[in-house]
Amino acid sequence: MTAPPKPARVVVLISGSGTNLQAIIDAREAGDLPVEICAVISNKDKVQGLERAQKHQIPAIVVDHRQFSSREDFDARLQYIIDAQRPDIVALAGFMRILTPAFTRHYEGKMINIHPSLLPKYQGLGTHKRALQAGDREHGATVHFVTAELDGGPCILQARVAIDTADTEQTLAAKVLRQEHRIYPLAIKWLAQNRLRMRAGISFLDGEPLPTGGQQYQ
Ligand code: GRF
Repeated sequence: MTAPPKPARVVVLISGSGTNLQAIIDAREAGDLPVEICAVISNKDKVQGLERAQKHQIPAIVVDHRQFSSREDFDARLQYIIDAQRPDIVALAGFMRILTPAFTRHYEGKMINIHPSLLPKYQGLGTHKRALQAGDREHGATVHFVTAELDGGPCILQARVAIDTADTEQTLAAKVLRQEHRIYPLAIKWLAQNRLRMRAGISFLDGEPLPTGGQQYQ
């Protein structure tokens, strides 16, 4: 008899409240996500995401970026700590640091991020405000592979929300976040099941190239 396949090892990087981390933990605990969350790493001390990890007996590690004199030194230390976990997947979940090209190259094809916009629209910060100011009728969230270009790697999965005339930055952020919690665990599951790959700057799901915005979540 052959042993069942080992669950993919996931390291989650956070900087804050960690609601996406919570969605990943919940999906795993519900039996919907065949992964082992081996560590949660934050560049900030005392954030809620660390408490969430501890509550679920997941090792929670702080690597405070302020202790390093350069981005390169911080990333090198971060890489050392991540690699000690032998991860198959590195999931950025509200990790608010710009990463060096050497770091992103090291995890190419196995590091993903969730971004609160319909990429390639609105890379960077302030996405909800920008969507409202532009008078957009819809907005959303995207999971994408991480490359050296900030929020610029190939898209994997995207969920859309309608913008109502009454929406404020806060109501829109909450709507988008609800969708984030649906799509992030699903994208991680695809990666864990080896259904997802990045080749030549394109995402492939089950061997088929995905469109620019990634698979659309229904
Ligand atoms: C989310 O909006 C995510 O898209 C962005 O940062 C936020 C993190 O929220 N990258 P949380 O820490 O998961 O609650």
